[in-house]
Amino acid sequence: MRIDPWGSSQSTDYSRIIDHFGLQSLDGIDLPNPSHLHRRGIVFAHRDLDLVIDSNRKGDPFGVLTGLMPSGRMHLGHSMVIEQANWFQKLGGDVTIAVADLESNATRGISLSEGRRVAKEEYVANYAALGLNPENTNVYFQSERSIVQRLGFQLGKRTNMSEFESIYGFDGATNLAHIQAPLVQAGDILHPQLEDYGGLRPIVVPVGVDQDPHLRLTRGLASKTNWFNVNEAKMGLQVGISLQEENSEIMGVMPNGRINKEKQKAIFDGVVNSIKNLGFSDIMSNPKHGTVNVPSATRSDKASIRLALLSLERSLGGMGLLAPSSTYHRFAIGMTGDKMSSSKPKTTLFLTDDKETTEKKIKKSFSGGQATVEEHRRLGGNPDVDVAYQYMMYFFEKDDVFLEEINQGYRSGKILAGEMKQMCIDRATEWLSNLKEKRDETEHLVELFFE
Ligand code: TRP
Repeated sequence: MRIDPWGSSQSTDYSRIIDHFGLQSLDGIDLPNPSHLHRRGIVFAHRDLDLVIDSNRKGDPFGVLTGLMPSGRMHLGHSMVIEQANWFQKLGGDVTIAVADLESNATRGISLSEGRRVAKEEYVANYAALGLNPENTNVYFQSERSIVQRLGFQLGKRTNMSEFESIYGFDGATNLAHIQAPLVQAGDILHPQLEDYGGLRPIVVPVGVDQDPHLRLTRGLASKTNWFNVNEAKMGLQVGISLQEENSEIMGVMPNGRINKEKQKAIFDGVVNSIKNLGFSDIMSNPKHGTVNVPSATRSDKASIRLALLSLERSLGGMGLLAPSSTYHRFAIGMTGDKMSSSKPKTTLFLTDDKETTEKKIKKSFSGGQATVEEHRRLGGNPDVDVAYQYMMYFFEKDDVFLEEINQGYRSGKILAGEMKQMCIDRATEWLSNLKEKRDETEHLVELFFE
């Protein structure tokens, strides 16, 4: 099983995806003030989201990073990551958004200047209208943030073509710009935790599940650079030292392979002190084995110990990169029943579609109703595949109770397909006209998102 982030189809077998790629289900997490996307299981899985929520509970900072390719007009599907960024921002996170102009250049043939125009006029105008606060949001272009490209390049040392073949299915015919795109994305994801961009803190990446390959790659790359690993041991937690070309001298390994005992001791003392500062005692340092044990620590202490050691690593000259957290949303079906795509206008609503277009698209959209009214009354409709119902659930209707009512009503045949479509049209046109109003109100803020 493989997920292709650039593919034209995607699996909707979400429980299989969870199992196969080791995602965590969102069911087990107690979210403060869940949004409709959470309540309705649309955001359905995560990696290490606990880290972010725990940080937030303690009043510690966290950041959000996501990105979008400026490859066409912004549509409903794109709005989902912005909704989530919004939610995290309200919790107190700072938000960074990549305009993936290098990626859309490499994979969609969009020129950088066209990407720039589209990003400003279509995307950022809507970020503002959707409610992101420019004071706490920074939007940047991949092509202009050299640290992102440099990080990607440096991290490239930690992977190879075999890994790219197995994650992405790349082969000898894949062009090299396309091969670079995931590394640039790793740079996107990791750079907000560098000192110049807010410093060490958990960063959460809200994305569609098609982007998980990039998160798997990035998490792997980050951990491979780490100088200290924290693992569960028989008793408590164990810190292991990872000797690498980059750090061997600092760790006290001399060019001839001998150990400089003093240097080594200083490193181990550093580890012990970092952990002591968190309030642990009886720490056992074992330089010979390259380990430090903390018997009284439990699994829930792992995150704070890891953060302390990443900051120790930074003070010693390492990158100290924390593997990113992530959340995953499902995809709303395209209006024709296939995948939504900005290159196929009939498959989705663009955020700038006018009333007539909206109405026409919804009227023609794929329906879960029966062929005739008579049959529909008798057999009932299927809201799970009904675009009108699905779009109300994903985007336009905020009232859970009402949604449940029309869900039942549809299944029982009481509500007809045409009636469902009319409800959707009413809500969609209102939603889009509100958004248009907001766009006008926030137009003057667009430039602030780039500062
Ligand atoms: N690859 C994403 C897309 O296809 C865009 C993107 C670039 C991104 N960098 C990112 C998404 C970092 C999340 C995080 O739309």
